[in-house]
Amino acid sequence: MAVEETDTQVIITNPSDPNSSVTILKYGATVISWIYKGEEKLWLSDDAKLDGSKPVRGGIPLVFPVFGKCKDASHDTEPLPQHGFARNSTWQFLGQVTESPCAVQFGLGPEDVDQELYKKWGKGRHDFTLVLTVTLADDTFTTQIEVENTGASTFEFNWLFHTYYRVEDVTDSLVTNLMDSTCYDQLLATTYQEKAPMLSFHEEFDRIYKKVEEEKHIQIVDKGKVLVTLERENLPDAVVWNPWIEKSKGMADFAPKLGYMNMLCIEPGHVADFITLTRGEKWIASQKITPFGEIRVQTD
Ligand code: BG6
Repeated sequence: MAVEETDTQVIITNPSDPNSSVTILKYGATVISWIYKGEEKLWLSDDAKLDGSKPVRGGIPLVFPVFGKCKDASHDTEPLPQHGFARNSTWQFLGQVTESPCAVQFGLGPEDVDQELYKKWGKGRHDFTLVLTVTLADDTFTTQIEVENTGASTFEFNWLFHTYYRVEDVTDSLVTNLMDSTCYDQLLATTYQEKAPMLSFHEEFDRIYKKVEEEKHIQIVDKGKVLVTLERENLPDAVVWNPWIEKSKGMADFAPKLGYMNMLCIEPGHVADFITLTRGEKWIASQKITPFGEIRVQTD
């Protein structure tokens, strides 16, 4: 069977390669594993909570309707916790939608969200449907999101695929094709133009790269080998994050404590500003990940 459902998760196996699979937890519709030809590509904390008690530390948590914590007291998302409510709600499994490549869907509506939490967003007047499509093809893995405004009130939201990649040693990892992008450094609270042709990691890193052209494929390169080639649709911003030593120590669900050496988050999203959806409107975006590639330097 290409798709196996249990009470808590859904596992897709590539029918043409039994050593390639994706596991999605219904809680948060969080992808917690992507194995390509026998090798795990995502990082998941040893102490990640998979029982629905808190968002998963690792894999691909889904961020909606706000990225981070909104600081604008007049905005509808301001009362919401960091990264919103999609990652800590249990989604409905909608089933398999295609066989080759194998794709499955998950859905989330207001009724699936903790009502206390949901009511914090625009006093509970926003009606929406989210549909996540997860597609495992022979050499690519895609997550696509569709957000629909199914109510009468216009709403504003952020979206982000908070993807945690597994790397052998983050100090050997380089990230390409963000040069010349406008960057907001969340640690320094400053905005500047990225000048580095490749990003490298030797301390805590938390930056939002804004309006990165869609033609630019962000890559993670390790000792000359491309680990990931990332294509994005409708996701102009990319958050690059590594918590490093002190921040990891402060996260109870982050283990082992040296795990920051083996992970790197490249998070495509729409977070630098909000997307507005009026009644009946839909918004669709996706990330497509290829676990190899030729190093391609794309400049402006
Ligand atoms: C990143 C943010 O996307 O998520 C960081 O840029 C944040 O600032 C990180 O620390 C993890 O967030 P959380 O809520 O999962 O601990």
